[in-house]
Amino acid sequence: MDYYFITGTSRGLGKALAEYFLLKGNAHVTGIARSSSIEHANYKHWSLDLANIVETERFLQIAFKTLEKASRIVLINNAGTLGKIDYIGKQNTSDLTQVFNLNIISPVLLTNHFIKKYESENCPKIIINISSGAGHKPYDGWASYCASKSALNLFSETVALEQQLQKKNTHIFAVAPGVVNTEMQTQIRASNPANFSQLERFQTLKKDNLLDNPTEVAQKIAQIIEQPNQFESTVLDVRKF
Ligand SMILES: NC(=O)c1ccc[n+]([C@@H]2O[C@H](COP(=O)([O-])OP(=O)(O)OC[C@H]3O[C@@H](n4cnc5c(N)ncnc54)[C@H](OP(=O)(O)O)[C@@H]3O)[C@@H](O)[C@H]2O)c1
Repeated sequence: MDYYFITGTSRGLGKALAEYFLLKGNAHVTGIARSSSIEHANYKHWSLDLANIVETERFLQIAFKTLEKASRIVLINNAGTLGKIDYIGKQNTSDLTQVFNLNIISPVLLTNHFIKKYESENCPKIIINISSGAGHKPYDGWASYCASKSALNLFSETVALEQQLQKKNTHIFAVAPGVVNTEMQTQIRASNPANFSQLERFQTLKKDNLLDNPTEVAQKIAQIIEQPNQFESTVLDVRKF
C-alpha cells in the first residue's frame, strides 16, 4: 500500500492530488484541512488549522503512525495561503503570522516529524513541498507569501543536502505548480489593483483560458513521486517538464 499524507485536501490542488491517488488504487490518503470534502474508504480526514501551531503540534504526536506493509510513504505539504493581498505597512500582525505559520512553519514541523518517524523504513519516502514561482520573484501585495515560499525552497534544498550527506533515502522537492485554476486564483482576481499591480495579467490568464487544470498538475506531481531519481534538482517547476 502507498501511504499519502496531504495537507489542504478540501479543495483545489490538494483535493485533486488526493483524488488522483485514490483513483489510481493501492493508496491510503490522510488529508488535513479545516474542512473536508472527500468520501472514500481509503481516505481519512483530520480537521485541523495548520496555522495554529499548538493544534499542529498535538496532531503531529499522533498522526504519523507505524504503517503496515508500506510500499511508498509520501508527505505533500500543499495547504497554503496568500493572506491578505496588500502592501507591507498596511497589514496586521495576525494575518502576517497566519501566512508564515501555514506556508512555512507547518511544513517544517511536518517534514521534521515525517523524517523522524519513517527514516528507518526501507520503502521509498518522498516529501513534496508545494511552492510557487513567487518564491523566486517579488509580487507586490504578496510579500509574506513570496517570502514564505522562498523559505520553503531553501528549506527543501537544505533537507535534501542533509539526506545526501547522511546517505539517507528520503527524497524532498519544492514544486511550483504553475498558475492553477483554484480558489486561490479567484482571490487574486478579486484583489484591488491599488494593492496588486499585476491584477490585469491574472484576469487575462483566466479570460484567455490559460489556467492549469488541477488534475493535470496532480498528474505531473505524481511523476516526481513515482520516479524521484529522474529529478536532479530539489526546486522544480511543473511547467518545465
Ligand atoms: N493556484 C495557483 O495558481 C497556485 C500557484 C502557485 C502555488 N500554489 C500553491 O498551491 C497550493 C495549493 O493551492 P490552491 O490553489 O489549491 O489553494 P486553495 O484552492 O485556496 O486551497 C487551499 C487548501 O489549503 C487548505 N488550508 C488553507 N488554510 C488552511 C489552514 N489554516 N489549515 C489547514 N488547511 C488550510 C484549504 O482547506 P480549508 O480551507 O478547508 O482549511 C484548502 O484545502 C498552495 O500551497 C499554493 O500556495 C497555487
